[in-house]
Amino acid sequence: MKFYILTLFPDMVSFGLNTSILGRAAARGLLHIECVNIRDYTKDKHKKVDDYPYGGGAGMLMQAQPVYDAWRSVAERIGGRPRTVYLTPQGRTFDQGQAKELALEEDLVLLCGHYEGIDERVLEEIVTDYVSIGDYVLTGGELAAMVVADAVSRMVPGVLTNDASGSLESFEGSLLEYPQYSRPEEWMGKKVPPILLSGDHAKVDAWRREQAVIRTAERRPDLLEKAALSEAERALCAEVLRGG
Ligand code: ADE
Repeated sequence: MKFYILTLFPDMVSFGLNTSILGRAAARGLLHIECVNIRDYTKDKHKKVDDYPYGGGAGMLMQAQPVYDAWRSVAERIGGRPRTVYLTPQGRTFDQGQAKELALEEDLVLLCGHYEGIDERVLEEIVTDYVSIGDYVLTGGELAAMVVADAVSRMVPGVLTNDASGSLESFEGSLLEYPQYSRPEEWMGKKVPPILLSGDHAKVDAWRREQAVIRTAERRPDLLEKAALSEAERALCAEVLRGG
């Protein structure tokens, strides 16, 4: 899968996304993460990319021309109009379902705004999806683009070498992940739950499922609505929610 991140701060994004699991996936040819510096496309002789908003108001706006030309350079290279996500607090809140859906794209453009935003006319021209990573305001779209690129990348087949881990984690089936333990068996007087040392895989699986249900009821009861639970699990949730 190929990501094209349109930004005024390519180093910020590049360093973050070419590290660890995503860096290895890129080295293996599974991902291509490319930052396109919007400033390289300005026609202004002083390399300016922003200007005052018409009608007045605080701050500066990114102008349409450099954003459009940066996007067009990508569109021409891939020979079509790519899915283009603009990161903005005005977008739909990003979630695991959208991460999976975007991972089906061959090419994905992530557009990062800075300053007070981007001239509306170029957004109308190129943006297919408006995405927010939560109800708070960042200084720019770069961190949001990194969040989206990371979550989408790990849904690309082969990126997680442990193939099961993409689906066994938090939010799969709308449940949070069960607690996990590694060596030593006892740490600061706390013992690993004995069932995990039993070698009985069926019992371990059942225990983990129950823990996932309890944890979700305790920490994110809002997720339970969408979870596929048995009668017994629903009863367990009710008990947890009553404080039992
Ligand atoms: N840009 C600024 N704040 C943002 C947010 N919460 N989500 C996505 N993009 C943003």
